Amino acid sequence: MAPRVTTVNLANSPGFPVLARAMTGLAERGILAYLVGGFIRDTLLKRHTADIDLALPELELDTVRLLADELGGSFVTLDEFNKIARIVLPWKDGRTWNLDFSSLRGAIEDDLRERDFTLNAMAAPCQPSLAGAGVFPLIDPLGGVRDLEDRTVRVVSDRVFGADPARLLRAIRFAAELNFTIEEHTGRLIRQHAHLLKAVAGERIRVELIAIIKAPGTYSWLTYMDKVGLLAVLFPELNESRNVEQPKEHYWDVFNHSLQTVAAVERLLTPGPVRSRDEILSPVPWSADIESHFSGPSAGAAPRGALLKLAGLLHDIAKPRTRTREGDRWRFLGHAKEGAATVETILQRLRFSRREINIVVAEVQHHLRPGQMGPDGLPSRRAIYRFFRDTGEVALDTLFLSLADHLASRGPELDKHGWEENARTVAYILKEREKTASTVSPPKLVDGHDLMRLFGMKPGRELGGVLEEIREAQAAGEITIREEALAFVRRKQGLAQGE
Ligand code: CTP
Repeated sequence: MAPRVTTVNLANSPGFPVLARAMTGLAERGILAYLVGGFIRDTLLKRHTADIDLALPELELDTVRLLADELGGSFVTLDEFNKIARIVLPWKDGRTWNLDFSSLRGAIEDDLRERDFTLNAMAAPCQPSLAGAGVFPLIDPLGGVRDLEDRTVRVVSDRVFGADPARLLRAIRFAAELNFTIEEHTGRLIRQHAHLLKAVAGERIRVELIAIIKAPGTYSWLTYMDKVGLLAVLFPELNESRNVEQPKEHYWDVFNHSLQTVAAVERLLTPGPVRSRDEILSPVPWSADIESHFSGPSAGAAPRGALLKLAGLLHDIAKPRTRTREGDRWRFLGHAKEGAATVETILQRLRFSRREINIVVAEVQHHLRPGQMGPDGLPSRRAIYRFFRDTGEVALDTLFLSLADHLASRGPELDKHGWEENARTVAYILKEREKTASTVSPPKLVDGHDLMRLFGMKPGRELGGVLEEIREAQAAGEITIREEALAFVRRKQGLAQGE
């Protein structure tokens, strides 16, 4: 058997200089702190490290405050009662590091036994004398290194989820982010404790859920969450869609179609270099701009790609409620609009930001539009204009959602010809937008003042309607100059008078 790692080399971690400074400051005060949590896990995995967690015997908030001054960082009390504090420290590497300080619960081994998973339950004593070489003894009483090697998420004890039910989602999040599996007994404990997730604050759920949908393999993890009962607690509204039969074009019931739509979103958003391996993706438009739209940072919101997976999961949430029978067919009239309202309620409950809610709700509301634009051939310029006008900043996302919806409807019975036609239509819509920016936002040829001055119109709805008709006619290429716009109004007025 390979010898167990009993030391950890922290020197290669980008946060090490910050840690070394803090170690010295603490040692000068006679405090032996322990480095715990994610920093050790990520260093062992040679992964980008986030925050630095330090556990101190009998932490005094004032000590951390003084240390913050000495290091040139700012001091934040995170929890006065449990004595948890943070130093926010801008560093030479251009990053701002968070150093989180908490109190040890007993001896370090006892403290580690109160933590969540073995991969997070390792510690290293902060002895500045070791900082030169950077190699520290590793305290690993629960087999964290072994589980890292086996790529396994394992609870440290059976009490883990009862003590903090937010860990139910943390387990999934770590497994998804690290591409690990969840050990069987841990899975059974998750199933037993799944109902406790109800009591967890929306804010904490949102953080974990976003991390899960940002990571690859979301479809598989949602399926796992369904198996262990977490999905039903998070989204009870989805339960109604189980076994809800659909028209014959659909391969799956509404529930499975919803999960499959997430898989299809992930497939459609396959990164550039490996797209050519999947023939289905060849007619789908793709560019560096599209890729960064979905994967890049998004101001004040989770990345668009992650939100699109959520929209995929929830887009048919109102189908069970709106289902009616017409002859031998099931219809779901109004499900997109009703679904958008339900999604708003769900995401508010889970404390998503206003911006995130607006994005997902708009995608769900408009998800049928692309399919309705060109039932017989390519959509007209007028239809394209209306689509971009109504979907605004979620236009691209909505086009991809509708493609995912298509893939997830037919499943293994996908008709290649129909699919290629649909994907080409989407490519055409995007090309038209690029080619003729005027299709999407035509230049203003006349304004409301012109209509009042030249035609004696009154401000109000009618005037707004005429301006919109002019814009649509411009988008369709029927009007290109001001004279034509004025002639259009004259014609309309003449018609109105003749009525
Ligand atoms: N922890 C825990 N239970 C929680 C939250 C945290 O036991 N509900 C412990 C774990 O040992 C964890 C450490 O506190 O490693 C620090 O927590 P946190 O900063 O939330 O997570 P990290 O493990 O550092 O990972 P990340 O920064 O990726 O979230």
